[in-house]
Amino acid sequence: MQRRAFLKWSFGAAAMATFGLTPFGCSRDPENSNQPFQLPSLPYALDALEPYISEETLRIHYGKHHRGYVANTNHLVANTSLAKRTLIEIMRQSFEPKACRQSSIFNNTAQVYNHTIYWNSMTPEGGGEPGGLMLEWIEKSFGSFSVFRETFSNKARKQFASGWTWLVLLDGKLQVLTTANAETPIVHGIQPLLVLDVWEHAYYLDYKNRRDQYIDVFFDHLINWEFAANNLGEI
Ligand SMILES: [Fe+2]
Repeated sequence: MQRRAFLKWSFGAAAMATFGLTPFGCSRDPENSNQPFQLPSLPYALDALEPYISEETLRIHYGKHHRGYVANTNHLVANTSLAKRTLIEIMRQSFEPKACRQSSIFNNTAQVYNHTIYWNSMTPEGGGEPGGLMLEWIEKSFGSFSVFRETFSNKARKQFASGWTWLVLLDGKLQVLTTANAETPIVHGIQPLLVLDVWEHAYYLDYKNRRDQYIDVFFDHLINWEFAANNLGEI
């Protein structure tokens, strides 16, 4: 991997450490190899999350939506000084806290970032309860794993329209946050541990309007607790 591309995806050394493992492993997209931002490779095969998330969903969600956000970002930064900045720098610079609508450059860069965390928040044969330090933090923060699951699920279910449900470390304890559209905790200085995409494009092909089932499957079969624990360990 070329160093420039790596730095674009790593968001700087500190952030790279925070995300642990290889969440931002970067493959050179032949259609996009000369662009400043690259589509990161999925950490598993397109059919690896079946039967819970179908190959068709991943082909569209990763191959069309995520790829589109990367392409839009490259188009928007072309011939500007932003082309030399990291994704997080652009997100922080372009986010407008009081705006009803964010700019295209914020929306696209944030969606690149959010989706990369989302893919890594899932793993084949994931889900269930975590162990070790992760469980200790959950019990300390929420009282029990079941209370945490109920809290996260309720917020994900009630998120109006498109958005994201996050597990974060904030004020010395784990908390669940939701963000609308492309908004992301990192622009508020809050480090995410894992995220669930609750835009309809994430689940509609597999679950239609049954967001509840998608949330249950995330908990029962998909959550990558190792990813969350590594992020927690690096904070
Ligand atoms: Fe999405």
